[in-house]
Amino acid sequence: MGQGTNSTAKKRDGFSSSFGVLAATLGSAVGLGNIWKFPSLTGAHGGAGFLLVYLLSTLLIGLPVMIAEITLGRKAKANPITALQTLAPSALPWWLIGASGVAAAFLILSFYSEVVAWVFAYVAKALGGSILSSSPEVTQSAFSALISDPLQSLLWQWGVLAFIGGILLCGVTKGIEAITKKLMPLLFLLLLLLGAVSLSLEGARAGLAFLFSPQFDKISASVVLTAMGLAFFKLSIGMGTMMTYGSYFRDDQNIPATAFRVMSADLCVSLLAGIAIFPAVFTFGFEPSSGPSLVFITIPAVFSQIPLGHGLMVVFFVLTAIAATGAMLSLMEVPVVILHERFGLARGKATLLTLMLLIVAGSGAALSHSTLAEFTVWNMSLFDLADYLSSNVLLPAGGIFIALFVGWSWGLDRFRQAVSNQGRLSNAALANVIFFLLRYVSPLLILIVMLRGLGLI
Ligand code: PFF
Repeated sequence: MGQGTNSTAKKRDGFSSSFGVLAATLGSAVGLGNIWKFPSLTGAHGGAGFLLVYLLSTLLIGLPVMIAEITLGRKAKANPITALQTLAPSALPWWLIGASGVAAAFLILSFYSEVVAWVFAYVAKALGGSILSSSPEVTQSAFSALISDPLQSLLWQWGVLAFIGGILLCGVTKGIEAITKKLMPLLFLLLLLLGAVSLSLEGARAGLAFLFSPQFDKISASVVLTAMGLAFFKLSIGMGTMMTYGSYFRDDQNIPATAFRVMSADLCVSLLAGIAIFPAVFTFGFEPSSGPSLVFITIPAVFSQIPLGHGLMVVFFVLTAIAATGAMLSLMEVPVVILHERFGLARGKATLLTLMLLIVAGSGAALSHSTLAEFTVWNMSLFDLADYLSSNVLLPAGGIFIALFVGWSWGLDRFRQAVSNQGRLSNAALANVIFFLLRYVSPLLILIVMLRGLGLI
């Protein structure tokens, strides 16, 4: 592997303003996870009770790991592999965390890009009005027609990848930061609009009750673990994404405060998405299903019955596409910056190579509902397998090792120095608490998530 010193000798691209840092990082956290995973999991697993467990997981695991990743990235000002190589005081191969992050990025992108492809296809279909029907049978067959057509699936996926690649070609400041600064406020506005409309409908009370009424009896051990897994996915942690974005942070940025803001704003988006979806779903007597069927089958049928529903459906799919764009940018940036800095490829070439690799890696998931529908590994389609392996193996494992690296190898002094911006912020007590969580609490809790995810306990 080359060190790519020539290409990194000139000033490294990065986020130029505090708002840019926040928009880009939040852009990574906010994604498809907010629109379908979070609201339906919360509703199905005990409303406010699940929310409480999710919050605890976020505070005890998510935030410390996120702060650790960003801090390491900013300290090293390099991609995750180089960052861990430079920062590791011992000869242990901590850089493997970065390498497994690249594998996780490819795995997640292979199925995530396909769902994002459906979202973009649905923006077009919503605009054209072809999915306007109050009958779930009709919206179901429209969805099946899309996903079982191999050519359409592939073309939409390639289109999405090219779109995201195009933004990445413009760089970190002019690409990622510039676009997320515009998209994030728009996302909030559109969500507020949809939430207000949905709350004005008859079924608002039932929808909110589904989301928020506390049913503590539904909280089993496995539900606690689901909430923790969701925290990983939601905050984009455990695979070097936040380390990569951390390397673009400014030196005067308050990392714990930024991470807390990102976590809170991400939670707001998730709650608003639930408020926009469930009152409407209950108003028209639909089942609050989860996963793709909620977004691609139930939502079109629901919006088709609301006054101005056609326009609102366009709004819904546009905002989902916006949410997905920020997340995709951060996922793709991980391999791009590694190819750029480790292999000395110019950023443009690194982006194009990533794009080509993703077209190959993603085609399995893209075709898993058509040509490869019969092809299964461990009883899972390629699509589900990529989802399963990344969420249940790679992200938690990455999280454990990041926490262990900071807690046991990097050490308290270095961590405190870096988190306090070399002593300019007086947050030593906070740094101590975060360090304690990273050293003892987070790795243990994550280990439980992982063992449960693999069905070992
Ligand atoms: N946080 C994104 C979501 O909630 O949809 C998904 C994601 C993005 C996971 C980036 C991991 C990542 F590195």
